[in-house]
Amino acid sequence: MSHRIFLVGFMGSGKSSFGRRLASQLGWDFVDTDATIEQLAGMTVAEIFKRCSEECFRALEKQVIEESAAREGDTVVSLGGGAVCREGVMEMLNNAGETLYLKMKPARLVGRMGELARARRPKIAGMNDENLLAYIEKTLPEREKYYNQATYVIEL
Ligand code: S3P
Repeated sequence: MSHRIFLVGFMGSGKSSFGRRLASQLGWDFVDTDATIEQLAGMTVAEIFKRCSEECFRALEKQVIEESAAREGDTVVSLGGGAVCREGVMEMLNNAGETLYLKMKPARLVGRMGELARARRPKIAGMNDENLLAYIEKTLPEREKYYNQATYVIEL
């Protein structure tokens, strides 16, 4: 039987770097959904949003999540911040393995994402600290409805 750990949480909470470290310590495979989507599309996430649309990105994301949930071999999967914010996705992941929500306060998330990190993320590209904080304070409670369905909540 394959073991799977899925890392969920808001943009900037460190899912990718924590996931890579965890996978290497466990000796498991590592999958990052955004990186996999970029490989599939041959474009960056920002380019997919710009040249196609967010719906286009979400369709690819759905496909990549489903594949990662069925993947053979022990795997740590880091998901994009919006990946689980649809009905049924957390349930699917909870059935496929363990889910971890990396929880971080809005002000800390703002401090962790500099200009370049924001530019790479179309939902927050070009925002200053004040606008980003307001965006996170509005969006995080909506998203936590999904993130809080994780088996483990890790307060960072
Ligand atoms: C998104 C988060 C991003 C990426 C895309 C959309 C979101 O992933 O999937 O820019 O809607 O929160 P990270 O959480 O890895 O930044």
